[in-house]
Amino acid sequence: MKTRRSVRAYTGEPVSREVLEDIIDCGRLAATAINIQPWEFVVVTEGPMLRAIAAAAEYGSFIAQAAACVVVMCRDTKYYLEDGCNASQNILVAARAHGLGSCWVAGDKKPYAEKVRKLVGAPATHKVISLLAIGHAAGERETEKRPLTEVLHWEKY
Ligand SMILES: Cc1cc2nc3c(=O)[nH]c(=O)nc-3n(C[C@H](O)[C@H](O)[C@H](O)COP(=O)(O)O)c2cc1C
Repeated sequence: MKTRRSVRAYTGEPVSREVLEDIIDCGRLAATAINIQPWEFVVVTEGPMLRAIAAAAEYGSFIAQAAACVVVMCRDTKYYLEDGCNASQNILVAARAHGLGSCWVAGDKKPYAEKVRKLVGAPATHKVISLLAIGHAAGERETEKRPLTEVLHWEKY
């Protein structure tokens, strides 16, 4: 968890179906409001579809070079966004645990979310939460984080 950072450059080396399945399994096991589990995960690994999603996503062109893009979707429940984000974060951390790079590309609230939903053939009852690029990292980049002493408040703000 502490070493995960967004990776936006990939080597192009494939990731096995077994590893991708384990990563999705970690998403499936995320906490969810009243255990409703409203999610579905579409794992895209084929070049033409990766390129189509990359072209649709405003700041996600690097998806075209990733080994996979996980499209996280949820049924439109009360806590669909919290649930979908929880599963998404689990997936990013699981990818890191497998030694892989990943990057969350926005889905929910983006005008292109509908296009991506249609591209992967999901029904209109489902909302696209995130597009998660996963692959072997071609280099790593540090991101500046606010220090613990600044964000942690004991007992009161
Ligand atoms: C809801 C959400 C949407 C994001 N959308 C994008 C995106 O569209 N394109 C992108 O390159 N990164 C996106 N990111 C990644 C953030 O830019 C990144 O997490 C942030 O800069 C912190 O860097 P880190 O992931 O290395 O800690 C998104 C992250 C979140 C949580």
